Amino acid sequence: MKPTEILVSEHNLIRQALESCSLAVEKLESGEKPPKEFFEKAVEFARTFSDKFHHHKEEYLMFGRLAQRKNGQIDAQIDSLRYQHDRGRDLIAEITQSLTRYAEGQDPQATIILEDMAAYVSLLRHHIHKEDHVFYPMVDKELTAADQKYLLDEFKKEASKDGGKIFENSQKLVQEMGALL
Ligand SMILES: [Fe+2]
Ligand SMILES: [Fe+2]
Repeated sequence: MKPTEILVSEHNLIRQALESCSLAVEKLESGEKPPKEFFEKAVEFARTFSDKFHHHKEEYLMFGRLAQRKNGQIDAQIDSLRYQHDRGRDLIAEITQSLTRYAEGQDPQATIILEDMAAYVSLLRHHIHKEDHVFYPMVDKELTAADQKYLLDEFKKEASKDGGKIFENSQKLVQEMGALL
């Protein structure tokens, strides 16, 4: 198995979470108010799985190896992916800040959450599409067998943290998100 194949399988779980987020946006657009718990779980998934687990492996393990192989030729591409990770974190932070007032029934906060969630879904879908179809194929071509082995070993270490149940717990979280809509 290649390290990028692991990342692609994580993208599939992130896409499932984004499906629910997109449905929540549609509900908000039609005046419905999904429960606060849905957004709390969406934020938890974004933070623990998409960010702390998946984006962390890309940023701190893969980008560095790749930059060494390409001698700075793809710095701009890496910067743009990194910027999108940051932008996603900002949107999730804004959603979190609006949740208490949203639960109190405040309309401005429902609008803020609608806009931020719609932006987050669109951002991450584009980001994942670019990684799957442009960036990862380039990674597969450029990294040496030793790089690939190094990444696989590091990915295994990351997956074994917190009792080794990050993927399983995150799958559960996505199911719970779906059940709340
Ligand atoms: Fe990424
Ligand atoms: Fe990714």
